[in-house]
Amino acid sequence: MTSIVCKKLSKRYGKESLALDKVDLSLNMRGIFSLIGRNGAGKTTLFRVLSTTLLPTSGSATIDGVDVVKTAKEIRERIAVVPQEARPVAWMTPKETVTSYLMWRGFNYGEARRRADEALKLLGISKFSNKLNQRLSGGTKRKVLVATVIASDADIIFLDEPTTGLDPISRGELWDLLLKLKKTRFIFLTTHYLEEAEFLADKIGILENGKLLSVGTLQELRKKMGYPYSVKILGKTGKANVKRGRVVKGRDGYTQIFTTEEEARRLGGHLIKTKTRFSSNPVSLEDIFYYFVKKSVNEEERNDGPEYR
Ligand SMILES: Nc1ncnc2c1ncn2[C@@H]1O[C@H](COP(=O)(O)OP(=O)(O)O)[C@@H](O)[C@H]1O
Ligand SMILES: [Mg+2]
Repeated sequence: MTSIVCKKLSKRYGKESLALDKVDLSLNMRGIFSLIGRNGAGKTTLFRVLSTTLLPTSGSATIDGVDVVKTAKEIRERIAVVPQEARPVAWMTPKETVTSYLMWRGFNYGEARRRADEALKLLGISKFSNKLNQRLSGGTKRKVLVATVIASDADIIFLDEPTTGLDPISRGELWDLLLKLKKTRFIFLTTHYLEEAEFLADKIGILENGKLLSVGTLQELRKKMGYPYSVKILGKTGKANVKRGRVVKGRDGYTQIFTTEEEARRLGGHLIKTKTRFSSNPVSLEDIFYYFVKKSVNEEERNDGPEYR
């Protein structure tokens, strides 16, 4: 189990920008924690504070009880990090990149080379082992960095948007690897791909405008939303006769009804009778994300804007 605890954690850049706004977080879990949020939400800022490359303005954070500010050195020995937009050194090869990183972490040369080979093989990029990093595609470069953390013995891994910019095949390959990796290590993963968090994460945190809006398993987030089911029909809701739930018009011409399981069943029966085409599913992470973000934006605007109902 890995525990991450943040108490009223805030980070202000300069005078205006409050990138983290009193974040309270309490995790004690295995597997993958995924922090989701749009660009500028504060994901990288929280990531950097926890991985000890950025000092918070106020508040505290610990990993397994160890303070990330006061005892950063101790944390650094336990974690391995791939920052957002990091690139491997252009004039080194993937094998040299991984080997040198491992030697810096304290492995001897032989062991470092052996582990480097193993990790590059696991990522399916052995054939590039001895090419220069600068000659590799963006996706392969990203994999080289992921190889460094996999090859390390760190049991806590930090990945900041590791799949941004990857093609769908490379992304799928990385997902498979992360699923394997999470069996033995804890992974703190940020992403703005909601389907990625839905697929990989054991717990999800939604960050918006520096505020942590909600944290939980997908199932818990559905419950917190209040309406765990979604019924979608094409066109107007006239025929549906919704008694409980929120009705939202989609851009695609569909009307989506967020509701309880019971009401979803009742609606389903009714729609079958009236021969209306519909789909009924548990709400997706995308639905949950929009719900929490819209709610937060509306609260900020003191409900002057259009209501989400
Ligand atoms: N070094 C910096 N100086 C000033 N503002 C920054 C800096 N880094 C990030 N910010 C601001 O802090 C907010 C959060 O940024 P960031 O943590 O990078 O978000 P995300 O990773 O979710 O896209 C944004 O408004 C961004 O413009
Ligand atoms: Mg970021």
